[in-house]
Amino acid sequence: MNNLSFVLKSFGCQMNTYDAVRISNLLSKEGYRPVVDEENTDIIILNTCYIREKASSKIFSELGRIKKIYKDKGKNLPIFVILGCVAKAEGDNVFKRAPFVSIVLSSQKYHLLPQLLQQVIDDRNNTSSLNKRKKKLHLINTELSGLEKFDCLPPVKNSDKVAFIQVQEGCDNFCTYCVVPNTRGREVSRPIKDIIDEATHLNNLGVVEINLLGQNVDSFNGIDENGNKSNLANLIKKVALLPNIKRIRYTTSYPSKITDDMVELHKLEKKLMPLVYLPIQSGSDEILHKMNRKYNTQKYLEIVQKLKSANPDIQISSDFIVGFPGETEEDFQKTLDIVKKVRFIQCYAFKYSPRPNTPAQKMDNQIDNQIKSKRLHILQTELRKIQDDFNKSCIGKVMSVLFTDISKVDSSFIIGKNEYLQPVIVKADKSILGSIQNVKITDASYANLKGEII
Ligand code: 5AD
Ligand code: SF4
Repeated sequence: MNNLSFVLKSFGCQMNTYDAVRISNLLSKEGYRPVVDEENTDIIILNTCYIREKASSKIFSELGRIKKIYKDKGKNLPIFVILGCVAKAEGDNVFKRAPFVSIVLSSQKYHLLPQLLQQVIDDRNNTSSLNKRKKKLHLINTELSGLEKFDCLPPVKNSDKVAFIQVQEGCDNFCTYCVVPNTRGREVSRPIKDIIDEATHLNNLGVVEINLLGQNVDSFNGIDENGNKSNLANLIKKVALLPNIKRIRYTTSYPSKITDDMVELHKLEKKLMPLVYLPIQSGSDEILHKMNRKYNTQKYLEIVQKLKSANPDIQISSDFIVGFPGETEEDFQKTLDIVKKVRFIQCYAFKYSPRPNTPAQKMDNQIDNQIKSKRLHILQTELRKIQDDFNKSCIGKVMSVLFTDISKVDSSFIIGKNEYLQPVIVKADKSILGSIQNVKITDASYANLKGEII
């Protein structure tokens, strides 16, 4: 057992957040200590995102920034580790751009981290070899190996009330803009038993809300105990049997893959939250076709309608990309039109970012950055207005809120999230932390709701 400290910084999606928890658990089990002070630690681990240019270039500026802190203080550099999607996509190139990095591992190989760290530590301790060798030890494994990592990880440690479970790895959709099929590989679902074991463990730790994660979670098809394929609806039904689990969410949905079983489940299963994260990306059928999204706007609207007929409380959230190659003003207008039609309650909108080795990067008619910025601003203004309207429409309603945090501004206020993931603030004793309460909403802004426990 060693007693070295590590700082783990995670960037990108919820999948990365989940991975970070598992990596931290794994290292803690091996005797490493998680700390937060990046200026005084033995190991710096960056769990990285490659989805847009900005996300990946941030990693190299982070590396440079942290290295400089140690150099300026005249301290020995910590061991630097790059995990996740940048590791997979850039591979060896990480060592070229940042030679002081010791370990590069894809998101499907992070279970190898303790063993590789030990190699680096042994190498550092062996001063004679250090004197002889001019070259720094560089360890890399960026293979894609499906679900292998899950067999090597200790049970999740979790003291939070909200937890994620990864139920699927990779993606087979091949949207023409997206790096995920390259960074996380082919789609593969975890067996039902493994997921239910993990959910039961979380249930026993007192977790109240579980979010089932997959890049394309609606095509989940894990094997059940009898060796038959089971869909997402069947999986959720099993998770819903756990008594402490009061809320279930699933992320991310691919519109045309939502099954009738899932629609039906939204009618029947009260633990299933009525917020469906259903990224549309664009409101133009031409652009959707160029993106290789396998639905058009009519189909999308039909799915939304089906969901809302099953459960009228359902609201939709989404992602958008503006400035995809060839996007005309007319295409963009169609995106604004569908936004007004569906009235998405929470959204992320991004400027299209050309990514290495994706078909869209090679397409003609790349859009000028100024136009992208202008469209992003117009879209975000519209989305914000709708979100604001929705928040205000909640005033007077009674909503169920899971309280998880004390306000940093005033500790007599407690913060939680309601069914729609809107932050709700109430004045209350901290004994309500961890519980679900009925709250009457009394005030609302774009950012949050205020209310009183009833
Ligand atoms: N450029 C901009 N946004 C992207 N996304 C994925 N790839 C790109 C890209 N190349 C967005 C999509 C996806 C979200 C996770 O990131 O909207 O739903
Ligand atoms: Fe980023 Fe995609 Fe990797 Fe998540 S899976 S970290 S969004 S590149």
